[in-house]
Amino acid sequence: MKKRIRTHTNPLNIRQRITDVSLDALARDYLAVDLDIGFGRGRFMSSYANRHPNRFVVGIEVRKQMVMAFKDRYSIENCLPIWGAAAICMEDAIPDASLSRVFIFHPDPWFKKRHHKRRVLNDHLLNLIREKMVPGGRLYVSTDVTELHNDMLNLCENYGNLEFVTDDLFWQTDYATHWSMFAENEQRPQHFLTVQFKETL
Ligand SMILES: C[S@@+](CC[C@H](N)C(=O)[O-])C[C@H]1O[C@@H](n2cnc3c(N)ncnc32)[C@H](O)[C@@H]1O
Repeated sequence: MKKRIRTHTNPLNIRQRITDVSLDALARDYLAVDLDIGFGRGRFMSSYANRHPNRFVVGIEVRKQMVMAFKDRYSIENCLPIWGAAAICMEDAIPDASLSRVFIFHPDPWFKKRHHKRRVLNDHLLNLIREKMVPGGRLYVSTDVTELHNDMLNLCENYGNLEFVTDDLFWQTDYATHWSMFAENEQRPQHFLTVQFKETL
């Protein structure tokens, strides 16, 4: 079994702004733009981008070493990895009403209550995702941590203006991440959420 890297970066400490990305120009010739938040080793992002050459995939990852490793390992025309914290990068680099799909797979659980503010999915990020999504865009979330799943489910239910949908085709054909592999190997159940926003701003 491969060793799990458990080093964490506190995302609240990564504050640099993104000034050099013009997504409109980069993604001009593609049918859709998708975003993978916290792509880690990039197993999902690379295979998804290769599988869908007509879609442009942006990845945001707070750990710089992961971004550099991805760039060293892959050179995928329709894929742009960005180093930074999700909310800041989205504000700076993602145009409004541009994303079709947003993926958050196995986000860090930050178990201690005082660390919950470091969790990536919160009301602010949901607002941003809604603002950056095209009408009918979808958010896909997975975790193998039941407590975190329940918290994210509550967050979405309380947020309103969105509905839970099923997208078995996506989960069965596209979904496979480094962390989903651990869950499968260790026979831990995974939880899935697929959310569609009712309207855009
Ligand atoms: C447990 S790993 C999961 C990686 C990958 N999605 C997977 O399923 O294999 C969570 C990743 O999210 C990244 N991350 C955590 N908070 C983030 C944030 N605010 N913005 C961007 N990436 C973040 C971490 O650095 C880590 O690589």
